[in-house]
Amino acid sequence: MGQSTMPRRPVTTLPAVIPLARDTGRSLRWRIHKGFKDAILTGQLESGTRLPSTRTLASSLGVSRSTVVEAFDQLAAEGFLDRRPGSGTYVSRQLATLRATDRTGAPGTNPARRPAHRASAGAREHAVLPRPFTPCEPDATLFPHRLWARLLARHARTPGTSEAAPGPAGLPQLRKALAAHLVLSRGVTAAPEQIIVVSGAQQALHLCAHALLDPGDAVWCEDPGYLEARAAVALAGARPVPVPVDGDGLDVDLATDLAPHARAAYVTPSHQFPTGNVMGLARRLRLLDWAARNGTWIVEDDYDSEFCYDNRPLPALQGLDDHQSVVYVGTLNKIAYRGLRLGYLIAPPAVTDAFLAVADTMSTSPPVAVQSAMADFISEGHLSQHIGRMRTTYRERRQLLVDELHRVLGDRIQLEPASRGMHILATLNAVPNEYLARRGTARGLDLRMLSDYTQTPMSREAIVLGYTHLRPEQIRSAVVDLASLLSTTDRRL
Ligand SMILES: Cc1ncc(COP(=O)(O)O)c(C=O)c1O
Repeated sequence: MGQSTMPRRPVTTLPAVIPLARDTGRSLRWRIHKGFKDAILTGQLESGTRLPSTRTLASSLGVSRSTVVEAFDQLAAEGFLDRRPGSGTYVSRQLATLRATDRTGAPGTNPARRPAHRASAGAREHAVLPRPFTPCEPDATLFPHRLWARLLARHARTPGTSEAAPGPAGLPQLRKALAAHLVLSRGVTAAPEQIIVVSGAQQALHLCAHALLDPGDAVWCEDPGYLEARAAVALAGARPVPVPVDGDGLDVDLATDLAPHARAAYVTPSHQFPTGNVMGLARRLRLLDWAARNGTWIVEDDYDSEFCYDNRPLPALQGLDDHQSVVYVGTLNKIAYRGLRLGYLIAPPAVTDAFLAVADTMSTSPPVAVQSAMADFISEGHLSQHIGRMRTTYRERRQLLVDELHRVLGDRIQLEPASRGMHILATLNAVPNEYLARRGTARGLDLRMLSDYTQTPMSREAIVLGYTHLRPEQIRSAVVDLASLLSTTDRRL
């Protein structure tokens, strides 16, 4: 984005503009940080706005200056604020303004004001580079790029007439290849006609929300859980209902109490994000039974299930579903590399047309040459081979991370038991204080806390540690950095 030559005048009425998020259990620093973040994400504070000095702000908020400085440090580290030495602090110009055009509508009518954006981790125009411990990050360097380039070139040179416009469902060859692959690898039931090719799991979640929900519908969402799923629900005008997860995933009984008339449930049963718990068979059947009895939908996000390291792969929930209530969502971006932007969903036959209508309106179909290349990549066996290789590499990296965490941190840390996925949840015997993530950022670590993914306060705290993109020496040094951070920031229970 271009920089305007005239900086905006600083806003002077910030304390009124930003009602500090009320949360009695949270620190002032947290509330200031959240207040600003929300105001930026909802467009109340526009990109380029100059903020008052920390001294002015502290005195008008009635807090110490260091509290404001710490909150601003964190916002700057996260990319929300730009600091310009000698000039002041500005709302980052890198941030998308999140549909800031209509500010006059009543709350709820303007998508920019809906909670979706407040639940979102923050829209950015710039790519965020993975750092040590960034979760769910594949090692892009291990993808067979040469082979991929050959396949892409093959189709870029000779786009056939039928490939010129694959339609909203995606390229038929790719849907066929995906169906064959998924039936074998994930135990799903899928005819190619049920598959819709999209840019990734996130886009598939948006399609689900628009195809299945009416404004105001309640949707059970795992808490803690994937924030962007909640954002997709809210952006469609529906109501995400946070439902606690236990060792077995989403607590169906509690959910039934919280929102008995929910229209859908969003779950990650094979590897709950971020706790890592696996939903057992009894809970799976209970959830399917709820959906069948009530005519409701289950959206199964199977985002990282290819990576199962104990040779006990758990078939997808969708494969157990006799009533066709499950929409299965998957992604190739975590298998190949983040920028690939290819994913898919399997729609139950009763709603396939509804999905196609939304896909058509949103024009979700990825570039045809990429779809053609992926169809070949799968049908020539390269995808299965690549998954096998990555599984071996990630298993070793996971084991190394587990060993190093135990060696360096000993009994100060407990790790999630499931041996799968692309991240580990590490529970600490001492509660890391609130500065841990910020100090991690200063040292180049990407420390996401369990509380970053929760809607309701939790008594426990933990760190989400992504490892799949890290080479062995990077894992070792990241653990040492983490341990030294923890020793300076621990608060004993
Ligand atoms: C649980 C979960 N679901 C979905 C996604 C989105 O995946 P994609 O990059 O394919 O859109 C992510 C991304 O990290 C995720 O963690």
